[in-house]
Amino acid sequence: MDVFEAINRRHSYRGPFLDRPVPREDLQRIVQAGIQAPSGRNMQTTSFVIIDDPELVRRVAAMHENNLAVQQARAFIACIIDRRPEAVYEGHSFQVEDCAAAVENMLLAITALGYATVWIDGWLRVQNRAEQIGRMIGLPESKVLRILLPLGVPAESWPQKEKKPFAERAWFNRYGG
Ligand SMILES: Cc1cc2nc3c(=O)[nH]c(=O)nc-3n(C[C@H](O)[C@H](O)[C@H](O)COP(=O)(O)O)c2cc1C
Repeated sequence: MDVFEAINRRHSYRGPFLDRPVPREDLQRIVQAGIQAPSGRNMQTTSFVIIDDPELVRRVAAMHENNLAVQQARAFIACIIDRRPEAVYEGHSFQVEDCAAAVENMLLAITALGYATVWIDGWLRVQNRAEQIGRMIGLPESKVLRILLPLGVPAESWPQKEKKPFAERAWFNRYGG
């Protein structure tokens, strides 16, 4: 699958997964795609915990009340940054951007390998969920789980959400055209 096909096919998947494992070889390939993403000053600030221990997967999955992809995930990729990111350039930190770049690379790799996922972020930030999962995976106090990706082989075919047309969001040379 070429990169434009992966971009077109990528979508947020919150449906059921087939009863098929995600082999470690594929998990490693996906996370390697995240590792190869760009990062501010090449600081490579995002780290990853791949959750594939069945009991751990079950405990994380049980936390979601209505997202089947989380509830039925075969594995999770936890993306971790510093809780209080250090400035690396003129007072600025790029840890959130670094993490987002790594996640987008992984979303495309996940799509290209025939799996599905959804970017779980907002959900982690309420009711101390990031901290609860952080404790399960042994995160030190200085680190925080920023984005979680549930993974599996999708049982249903879902579309990417509709995007506004190019002309409403992009212009050559001058904002607004
Ligand atoms: C920063 C960010 C946070 C998100 N947080 C969540 C979330 O907590 N739970 C969820 O189900 N989807 C989450 N999503 C997925 C978006 O809802 C989804 O990307 C959007 O609706 C567009 O759909 P698409 O991914 O199919 O294009 C998040 C996406 C981004 C980029």
